[in-house]
Amino acid sequence: ANPNFVDIVEVGPRDGLQNEKAIIPPETKVELVNRLSRAGLTTIEVGSFVSPKWVPQMAGTAEILTKMDKVPGTTYQVLVPNDKGLDSFLSHLSTHPDFQPVSEIAIFTAASEAFCKANTNASVAESLARLAKVTRRALDHGVRVRGYVSVVITCPYSGQADYGVVRDVTKELFEMGCYEVSLGDTTGTGTPTSVSEMLEIVSASNPIHKLAGHFHDTFGMGVANAMTAVNAGIRTLDSSVGGLGGCPYSPGATGNVATEDILYALQGSKYEVPGDLDAIAETGFWISEQLGRDNASRVGKALRAR
Ligand code: HMG
Ligand code: MG
Repeated sequence: ANPNFVDIVEVGPRDGLQNEKAIIPPETKVELVNRLSRAGLTTIEVGSFVSPKWVPQMAGTAEILTKMDKVPGTTYQVLVPNDKGLDSFLSHLSTHPDFQPVSEIAIFTAASEAFCKANTNASVAESLARLAKVTRRALDHGVRVRGYVSVVITCPYSGQADYGVVRDVTKELFEMGCYEVSLGDTTGTGTPTSVSEMLEIVSASNPIHKLAGHFHDTFGMGVANAMTAVNAGIRTLDSSVGGLGGCPYSPGATGNVATEDILYALQGSKYEVPGDLDAIAETGFWISEQLGRDNASRVGKALRAR
């Protein structure tokens, strides 16, 4: 493998849209996913099979999976919180067997009790027990599983994270069978220094090349934190076209670091990345317009102004 290749997990259609109040038409979501896959992004998080009472915007995920193009070379990922969510995913696979080789699920837990309760109505231990079962069943069906740990820097309810807890929860996700664990700075309060400190502790017991960085850009630190993670050895970053997004259970949190900004930073360094920056920047403007939002990507805006 090329040591300078940094993979991108495009989370815009899921993390980017889940917090939008007005229900977005399925055609818009389908077109977003199609534009992103055609722009050469190799992993796209399409949506979630979560409770529609908790996150109404993701209720139509099965329809998006059915209607979107399956572009060769792209992997499509769906968030699953529990057995019921996995049942929905597996039932989709049983009617669309061609989707099996190009899809995977992502499970999620947290490094603080308060956030885990707010986001999944479970303690961290309960959530890990629930997810271990989900992961075992998914693997038995030949479905790859990615893990997320939220609030790895600070929790909106309980403050400073305990990096030792982040390390241990990450380790449990690997032990249950996740092929990769993404570390979520949900609140976006991290800085290069705190991200370095966190990664040093987490990577002492977990393989750095199997970790991913998931940085929300609430304090404008997303690019700096992502580059810090890459310099520490991380080779997968999560990002969102146009910097869309926010977590419904993290008040005030803005979107993920913009995919355009990450690509620009990495391409301007020694790294190789998937995706066509101009096409992604165009998509950032298109989706921002559809949502009636300002484009949050600084790189997108700068490219258009040229
Ligand atoms: P609960 O209320 O304890 O669940 O929620 P329950 O089992 O008691 O079920 C309650 C109702 O939801 C029932 O319906 C279930 O059928 C239904 P009723 O009988 O009342 O009509 N239900 C479901 N429906 C569809 N699909 C399902 C499902 N499960 C239950 N899978 C639960 C527990 C985990 C379900 C809930 O808390 C939940 O859905 N949470 C998800 C919240 C979420 O999606 N958050 C955002 C994604 S995570 C994130 O953004 C962070 C990340 O980006 C990283 C970072 O930035 O940190 C990944
Ligand atoms: Mg997130």
